[in-house]
Amino acid sequence: MNILITGGTGYIGTVLVEESVKAGHNTYVLTRNREKSEALEKQGVKVIVGDILQDGQWQQKINDMDAVIHLAAPPTWGKKVTKKVALSYADGHLELTKRLFAAIDPKHLKRLIFVGGTSYFGDSGNEAPRTESFQAEPKGWGPYISPSIKYAKEKIAEGYPASIVFPAQIYGPSSWMEQLFFQPLYTNKPITSLKGYSPYFSPIHIEDCARALLHLIEKGEIGEDYIISDLQPLKSTVFRDEIIKLMGVRNPKFREVPRWLCQLLLGPVLTEYATAHTNFSSKKLQETGFKFRYPTYIEGLPQVVDAWLKLQS
Ligand SMILES: NC(=O)c1ccc[n+]([C@@H]2O[C@H](COP(=O)([O-])OP(=O)(O)OC[C@H]3O[C@@H](n4cnc5c(N)ncnc54)[C@H](OP(=O)(O)O)[C@@H]3O)[C@@H](O)[C@H]2O)c1
Repeated sequence: MNILITGGTGYIGTVLVEESVKAGHNTYVLTRNREKSEALEKQGVKVIVGDILQDGQWQQKINDMDAVIHLAAPPTWGKKVTKKVALSYADGHLELTKRLFAAIDPKHLKRLIFVGGTSYFGDSGNEAPRTESFQAEPKGWGPYISPSIKYAKEKIAEGYPASIVFPAQIYGPSSWMEQLFFQPLYTNKPITSLKGYSPYFSPIHIEDCARALLHLIEKGEIGEDYIISDLQPLKSTVFRDEIIKLMGVRNPKFREVPRWLCQLLLGPVLTEYATAHTNFSSKKLQETGFKFRYPTYIEGLPQVVDAWLKLQS
């Protein structure tokens, strides 16, 4: 299958590209950065250099594809997110979405997998894992991706062959896992958490997230939403303690930050994101026949910790 991945150079995209090549697909990546081409081409990937926000060759190429997985998004991680930053993120996100749909000819493309996030649904509460039918009340990043999700839903209603997917917390050997856990534990610095909060958390191993996106191209239904998480939502402190155990740290240091200080340091969006429960079910994904490589964090975390430690040696 010819598959174009937008955002194929990012956190999820890098692993998705590997899984797509491994699965034998003719894999194309759209990137703005010509310098990333060489490494991708060595992997057997075809690179399209282009910016979704500008006209270019990508607009023709997109309709030669069987499927597009859309991950491209403005950057989010690693800085304070004020309301102003978040509003500009929302504008950027929506602009990418509108230009993507404008380039697609729904008669040519077979499937678009449009990637959102479970913050679109908001705080799940801690009672039972919620499904795709949970009434959306976006929290954290949610309000800032919801204009894009609403736009994608309108386009689907007009006949675009898309499914919208909502990954929960994607864990892998880099990004937030490295920043929040691996680096501090490795350097004997405190792990920071929010005082008085241990919200539910629905992890998904980054390889399984990538595999689920590929799986849904063929097994998902047009117009349907799919949550991507593993089989076991859990409290975030349980997840953290398992990482500490696997890293072999006997006397970890902790720094508890009160909510008001978190607001000051990270801003209201990330504070809301960090305090909301993410207790979601991937039952619908499983009903499409998807099989996890790492069904729960118990299988997945050792692989991720090992991979990160190998990168340090
Ligand atoms: N990370 C998570 O835990 C998580 C969880 C749930 C959902 N999600 C969603 O999954 C998506 C991908 O997340 P991520 O963490 O992998 O993102 P990321 O690492 O920040 O990567 C973003 C990608 O977008 C591309 N991009 C940005 N602007 C572009 C433009 N104008 N034209 C073409 N490409 C552009 C960048 O490519 P170049 O710089 O190479 O051009 C980069 O590869 C996002 O929608 C995010 O909200 C993420």
